[in-house]
Amino acid sequence: MESKVRRIGILTSGGDAPGMNAAVRAAVRNCVHHGIIPIGIRRGYNGLIHADTMVMDARSVNGISDRGGTMLYTARCDEFKTDEGIAQAVRTCRYAGIDGIVAIGGDGTFRGAGKLSAAGINTIGVPATIDNDIGCSHYTIGFDTAANTAIECIDKLSDTMQSHERASVVEVMGRHAGHLAVYVGLAVGATAILVPEYPVDFERDVLEKIRQGRYNGKRHHLIVVAEGVGNTQGIADRIENETGIDARVSIIGHIQRGGSPSARDRTMGARMGHMAVEQLAAGKTDLVVCYRDSHLVTIPIAEALQMTKPMDPYMYQVAYDVSI
Ligand code: ADP
Ligand code: F6P
Repeated sequence: MESKVRRIGILTSGGDAPGMNAAVRAAVRNCVHHGIIPIGIRRGYNGLIHADTMVMDARSVNGISDRGGTMLYTARCDEFKTDEGIAQAVRTCRYAGIDGIVAIGGDGTFRGAGKLSAAGINTIGVPATIDNDIGCSHYTIGFDTAANTAIECIDKLSDTMQSHERASVVEVMGRHAGHLAVYVGLAVGATAILVPEYPVDFERDVLEKIRQGRYNGKRHHLIVVAEGVGNTQGIADRIENETGIDARVSIIGHIQRGGSPSARDRTMGARMGHMAVEQLAAGKTDLVVCYRDSHLVTIPIAEALQMTKPMDPYMYQVAYDVSI
């Protein structure tokens, strides 16, 4: 069926995530499929405010799915949090004939998307962040690649730490959430995982586990710390002072946000980007595309922003029980 939507704008906003390009590609190509003109908007909401847009076609997104980052660039735009910023973005849409927006990013991006929708521009959110901290969606684009990158770094680290019989305290990203830390910690066989969601008894859950491990023949002790816990150096100092084992800190940092996206992030990006355009083409607005129980569904933005994602207690428990 011919869509009445003529032009759809696509933007990426907030921290980049591997797989965003696959989402952009699928959104662009699905626009073309529907006879809609895709408009790339550069640097998140900045591009909407400053009319930094480009007309795209199917060929504009050739060969981008295997690249990390985002071809549309991303930014954090404080101006968009103001009424004037929103009004300016609406003027850009009207002037450029943009009937709808696909906003790819995290919950901050969805807050902006909700306001844009309320101002009369149909907008659909696509969850992309390595933190996997979006309550409405069981998965967010970028998490799998970031986890695998962190795991690869830690595997390398383990070689040297094992040779020196040291303890390594490794900080992974996640902002205020520990999803990435628990997943990575379980995968690398961490002795302890520290996340903001679960306070630990440091003596019992960290120091005693290290001492017991050493007594049982472990030569390397790996402590994975979510950045939201803070004071990673202080944790390493305490381990060294109280166990006598040499401890070193490694902060994986932005490396875990880059790299070629995994199969999961490419396919999830493609499916979500495609679905966002399906929604706009059908005249829908004010929704987030969410992955829940192996299916893509949509949830109203306001409702999505109220949802929280608790830490998976079973995954945490497994990691704890087997870290002996
Ligand atoms: P993420 O989308 O990854 O959570 P941010 O929280 O940095 O990242 O948000 C990305 C952008 O979304 C912000 O820079 C801003 O442009 C927009 N944004 C965030 N919160 C709001 C808000 N309350 N109102 C309007 N726009 C917002
Ligand atoms: O939200 C993604 C994320 O990588 C967080 O894990 C981290 O806290 C933050 O972004 C880092 O932001 P920046 O790129 O501004 O340093």
